[in-house]
Amino acid sequence: MYLTREEERILAGEEGEARAKALEVIVKVGEAVGAERLIPIKHAHVSGASYMTIGDAGLRFLARLAESGAMFSVPTTVNPVSYDVEEPGAIPMVRLSPRIVKAQGEILRALEAMGADLILTCTPYYTEVPRRVGLREGDSVAWGESSAVAYANSVLGIHTNREGGPLALMAGIAGRTYFYGAHDPEWRKPRVAYRLETPKVLDETEAGVLGEVIATQHRDEHPPLLDAPLGGEAALKELSAAVGSAGSLAMVHITGVTPGDPGDMIEEFVTMDYGDLARRMEDLAPGFEPDILYVGCPHASIEELRRLYRALSKAGERAGGRTVVSISRSLYLQALREGLVEKLKGLGVRFVRDSCLIVSPFSGSARGVRVATNSYKAYFYLSKKGVEVGLAPIEALPKLVS
Ligand code: F3S
Repeated sequence: MYLTREEERILAGEEGEARAKALEVIVKVGEAVGAERLIPIKHAHVSGASYMTIGDAGLRFLARLAESGAMFSVPTTVNPVSYDVEEPGAIPMVRLSPRIVKAQGEILRALEAMGADLILTCTPYYTEVPRRVGLREGDSVAWGESSAVAYANSVLGIHTNREGGPLALMAGIAGRTYFYGAHDPEWRKPRVAYRLETPKVLDETEAGVLGEVIATQHRDEHPPLLDAPLGGEAALKELSAAVGSAGSLAMVHITGVTPGDPGDMIEEFVTMDYGDLARRMEDLAPGFEPDILYVGCPHASIEELRRLYRALSKAGERAGGRTVVSISRSLYLQALREGLVEKLKGLGVRFVRDSCLIVSPFSGSARGVRVATNSYKAYFYLSKKGVEVGLAPIEALPKLVS
């Protein structure tokens, strides 16, 4: 692999042992995939920060890294963790053990010691981070959260591969990643085009199911080109989350949304029918009265909170009392300033910041609980844990409660 003089200097340990080791990992992975050079990154977003997902092995790895003096060399933010840091009791139906609180605290201290910004959200793009870091279309970053990766590439035009948590961590320390995949403009040009014939604009739930269909069908290494009417911000977020959970797509080039020219390399055209989507929606619809109405996977937007408030206002009291929203601390504060938090709490809504039902102990202890959600990704992971889950858009959720 070609290395610049600066990169050779880092590799030789002139910026410290830890940064040299991190760069060595990036170079090795890059060589394994055939990358010919490295590129600087502007930002890293580290996933795998919840003790519930990384366990003691992950905790030891992070603690040792921090003890070795490793520091992030570019602005680096962190994904959600196993509980709401300011209100650990916020997760429903969970009694947090002191062991989890202690271990999660150690993980957070290790990341903070390395210079991470503990935003603890999977939607860094909704926070002030892109503005603060000066992220612009065409910039390269190393993000580890699959839903944010697909959103960055597909909606923002920010380039990132789908990095595993440790690799995003190493890239943040090294300040570089290998030039490969989503960083390469040629890779970003689709070869297969999907068009959905539909009589309606898709809501966020339909967009999630469409994401499942594409992610399980698409086999080409380049991203798919998608022509489908998606109804706003939440639909784009849920489609991004679905293609990253039902499959491993890092990008969908969405006509009219994704910045940049998709090129003219299309070799295959696939037409999909709304009827197929509607049938899958029927399979996933809640056939039960839910114990929990869940919004905010990935973490909720302000627009989703407004929609939720409108929907709950028209419903009976019991619906609000069963509603859980997971949200970033940053957007929670914004919603607080706008009076939305007070209004929603007034209807009985419970907020979980810094965490979610999936990366908290909830998913491990909620077998038999019935959850209705507008998120395909939440459906995907919670149903694997034995939780009974059904999908419905925000407007339909309160109507499920009698
Ligand atoms: Fe975020 Fe948790 Fe969903 S981390 S994407 S809310 S699984």
